[in-house]
Amino acid sequence: MKIDLLSPASFDGGQPHGQFAWLREHAPVRWHDEPGGKGFWAVTRHADVYAVDRDFQAYSSEPTIMIADPLAEAGGFGPYKMMLMMDPPEHTGFRKLIRSEFTEPAARLRQDRIQALARQIVDRVIDQGQCDFVNDVAGEMPSFVIAELMGLPLDDGRELYKLTEIIHTAPEALPPGAGGQAVMKMFEYGSKVIAEKRARPGDDLASRLLACEVDGRKLEDMEFLLFFLLLVDAGGDTTRNLLSGGLLALMENPEPYAWLMADLDARLPTAREELLRWTSPVVYMRRTAKVDTMLGGQAIRAGDKVVMYFGAANRDPAAFANPDTLDLSRAENPHMAFGNGPHVCLGQHIARLEIDAMLREVLTRMRDFQLAAPVEWLPSNFISGPKAMPLRFRAA
Ligand code: HEM
Repeated sequence: MKIDLLSPASFDGGQPHGQFAWLREHAPVRWHDEPGGKGFWAVTRHADVYAVDRDFQAYSSEPTIMIADPLAEAGGFGPYKMMLMMDPPEHTGFRKLIRSEFTEPAARLRQDRIQALARQIVDRVIDQGQCDFVNDVAGEMPSFVIAELMGLPLDDGRELYKLTEIIHTAPEALPPGAGGQAVMKMFEYGSKVIAEKRARPGDDLASRLLACEVDGRKLEDMEFLLFFLLLVDAGGDTTRNLLSGGLLALMENPEPYAWLMADLDARLPTAREELLRWTSPVVYMRRTAKVDTMLGGQAIRAGDKVVMYFGAANRDPAAFANPDTLDLSRAENPHMAFGNGPHVCLGQHIARLEIDAMLREVLTRMRDFQLAAPVEWLPSNFISGPKAMPLRFRAA
């Protein structure tokens, strides 16, 4: 079996489940060459991914969670780091700053507003009978929600989301320097937010972050900007891809789709978790071994890159009965679409509300979905999902 988990081509029809199945069975912790880089261990079994994600003492998130990250390897932002790329206890201190905003009860307070946004988004396309589901529907929700969280105009959320998409695209698929420019634009916008929220603090996460203290001092501008980049980046195309990839999965699996529609409200929670397992929008997170250790019978040396493939773990027959069947009623579903361990997705409760609100709105008001053109997938080995999904539909 030819294994290539780097080429964007391997992801241009969704995640490479054929390669993942072969790896899980024959070489669950397998060395993978990396042109221009030192190579990495590809980890594909559920139990091993789970173990790596939780063991921050053996597997570090520093200096980066990307397989190749020229910026981080050249020293990154000097002494400043993004929380996603820190280890405990430093990570714990930063995560604590915003943790209370993202608990399940805190997320639930936003439920009505998120449902209202979902309604607005569908209102805009419902009479047209066709749309690009990715940009016109799925992408709108996370851009609006992050803008609301941060206290920004909704239209600005849309612009920030376009930058996120560039940042998450494989560099080979972009004009030279485009990724770096997108990060700089994000920082320029974030700097305006700092000035605006310092002058006129509001009841929003950006104002609260600027007011809070870590180790008895306020956040420096660069620390705020890295939080800002993380929050905008983490919740945008992930949620969008779940929604587009999830709807596509329903269209391709009419029986489970009909089962869901027979009692949508009651069945949505298990269905949403199954769609998370099925689509796994985050392809991987990388760690770096801090010590010589063993993983799945394989010796790992200190300094080696170790890459957790969440989509592979989520189809592991050792963890899921009939893993290649979309079973929207799956009761036991220990999927790792949100990761695990100290970095487990902070936005997962908000993401679940966004997904439920959008699916409720889309599935009850739009019917008879048909692809108007073939789905185009993101050229990315990091974030998986449709890039464009032109649909025809009927208003219900
Ligand atoms: C379907 C949607 C989403 C998926 C699949 C997803 C997935 C993930 C994954 C896999 C991680 C890394 C976990 C690990 O290393 O174990 C992560 C981290 C994170 N996510 Fe999400 N995410 C989603 C939505 C969101 C949303 C909506 C937000 C914010 C509004 C968000 C904020 C974050 C943050 C801040 C982190 C870093 C946490 C840390 O370093 O401690 N995510 N997410």
